Amino acid sequence: MTQLLYVSTSNPSGAKIDLPKIVEQSRHNNALDGVSGLLWSDGKRFLQVLEGPAESVSTTFDRIKGDTRHHAIVVLHQRAITEREFGTWTMAQRRADDTADDFDAKMQRLLRNASDTVRGTFLGLIAARA
Ligand SMILES: Cc1cc2nc3c(=O)[nH]c(=O)nc-3n(C[C@H](O)[C@H](O)[C@H](O)COP(=O)(O)O)c2cc1C
Repeated sequence: MTQLLYVSTSNPSGAKIDLPKIVEQSRHNNALDGVSGLLWSDGKRFLQVLEGPAESVSTTFDRIKGDTRHHAIVVLHQRAITEREFGTWTMAQRRADDTADDFDAKMQRLLRNASDTVRGTFLGLIAARA
């Protein structure tokens, strides 16, 4: 299996990002394709880890790269894994009533099985944007 971590920026010239729509599409496709992982966004930037069979991750990422809703896509990390670090695919969003501590606890939970690299990248980017 492969694990891939990338960062991107929402397209300023594109339509307003409809996160629920992206989540719905992703949840559906990723379940079919055996892709698990985590997507974080603050509405302007995205950080996503995808993992699963190499072929599935590659076709999913090809679709994501071609999506005009975001740009400046940079792969931060890609490696072979023997076990999944994320059992399912999910989106991490800070709700309006989440305190910084609530959201931090939520992220720690979502990242509990992640490698140091993946956990560090998520927590580092989120802290930098807080
Ligand atoms: C930031 C971002 C993350 C996305 N993540 C996924 C994903 O994990 N899986 C997926 O199938 N599509 C994802 N998409 C959507 C794809 O780019 C594409 O629109 C979608 O897969 C097309 O699916 P459909 O042919 O079923 O409509 C993402 C899009 C964006 C902008």
